[in-house]
Amino acid sequence: MARSFKTLDDMGDVAGKRVLVRTDLNVPMADGKVSDDTRLRAAAPTIAELSDKGAVVLVLAHFGRPKGKPDPTMSLAQVTQPLTQVLGREVRFVDWDSAPDAVANLSPGDIALIENTRFHAGEEQNATDVIDMIASLGEFYVNDAFSAAHRAHASTEGVAHRLPAFAGRQMEAELDALEKALGNPGHPVAAVVGGAKVSTKLDVLKHLVGRVDHLVIGGGMANTFLAARGVDVGKSLCEHELVPTAEAIFEAAERADCTIHLPYDVVVAKEFAADPPSLRTCNVHEVAPDEMILDIGPSATEALGDVLKTCRTLVWNGPLGAFETRPFDTATMALARTAAALTREGSLVSVAGGGDTVAALNQAGVSDDMTFVSTAGGAFLEWMQGKELPGVAALSREHLAR
Ligand code: 3PG
Repeated sequence: MARSFKTLDDMGDVAGKRVLVRTDLNVPMADGKVSDDTRLRAAAPTIAELSDKGAVVLVLAHFGRPKGKPDPTMSLAQVTQPLTQVLGREVRFVDWDSAPDAVANLSPGDIALIENTRFHAGEEQNATDVIDMIASLGEFYVNDAFSAAHRAHASTEGVAHRLPAFAGRQMEAELDALEKALGNPGHPVAAVVGGAKVSTKLDVLKHLVGRVDHLVIGGGMANTFLAARGVDVGKSLCEHELVPTAEAIFEAAERADCTIHLPYDVVVAKEFAADPPSLRTCNVHEVAPDEMILDIGPSATEALGDVLKTCRTLVWNGPLGAFETRPFDTATMALARTAAALTREGSLVSVAGGGDTVAALNQAGVSDDMTFVSTAGGAFLEWMQGKELPGVAALSREHLAR
C-alpha cells in the first residue's frame, strides 16, 4: 500500500546538508541518571544513518514540561552523554543562544543536540517566530518522534510546513505497525484495553467497538462494566457514575458485532498488598462486600488465550490486573506470554503500547517477541481513539502537497 509520508529513502543526497531531526528524548531520570534508555535507542538509528550519509545532524527534542522558560533541571545537556553512549559517537550539546553560530561551524557527519525546545514559550503555541527560528537552522526536517506527534507544537508540526519533511526510521516503524494493527488489519482483531479507570479510556473503547471483533476489558475498568451487567463488585475500584456509559458501549458493540469479554472468575482480596492473607479466586458473582477485584482469574485468562488463538491481530494497551503488586501480575504475564508465543509462531500480529503495557512486557521478558512495541504513551492512546495526530498529519499533508 502506498504510504502517505516520505522517509529517509526519499531524501536524496544529504551530504553536507543540515538536517533537523525531531526526536523524543523525554526519558525518565532517577538520581541524575537516565533510568530507561528505550527512547534514546529508538532515536539512534535515524541519527546514525543521517550522520553516516554525511548530513549535519541537528537533534531537536523536548524534556519535561518547563512551561516556556529555561529551567536548568530540564536541560537536555544532561541527556547528551547518555545519547553519546547509546550512539557510540560524539554528540555536542548546543544551547539556543549559540545555536546559529554553532550549527554553521559543524562539519558533515557531526551530531548536535540542541537545547529543550520547550524553553521557548512559542514552542507549545506553535508560534510563527519559533517555527521560523527553528526552520532557519536546517535545510531538511525529519520527524522521528511519534510519541510526541499528538502535540501540535512548533518542532513537531509547524516546522514540517517550512522545510522538506520526512519521517525518521522510528516514526516509519510506528506508522507501519499501527497501520497493520488498526488501519488495515488481518481479522479477527482483538483489542485488550486495561488500566485503572474507564474515564481515561472511554474514547478508546468507543472507537474500538466499531473496528475490532473482540474487545477484552481488563484492569479496574472491567469492574465498571461488570457493575453494568449487574455484578456486585464489592469494594473494588468502580466508577459507578459511568455505568450508563458502559451500557451504551455494550449496545454499540452489539450493533457492530464486536464481542466484549469480561472476566467470569477473578482474584480478590480484602486489602491491596503483596500476597495478602485474604487472597482468593472466585466466580465474579461471588465477590464479598469487603473484597476487591485485583486480577482476572485463571479460567478467564485461559479463555482469553483461546480467543487470541483465533485472532490474526492484537492491539494491547493496559494491564489486566494490578500488575505492579504480586500476585496480581499473573493474568497480565500469562497474556504477554501467550501473545508472544502466537506472534513467534506467525499466527498473530501483536502491537502494544503505553507505559504500563511496555513495563509488563519487559517484566515478562517478551518485548522482543511482539510484532511491535510502541514507545508512545499519550500518542498511542490518541491513535487508539482514532484521532488524527498533528505531527503525523503534517508529514502526510506536506507529502501530498509536494
Ligand atoms: C511523552 O513522554 O509521552 C511525550 O514525550 C510527550 O510528552 P508530553 O506529554 O509532556 O507532551
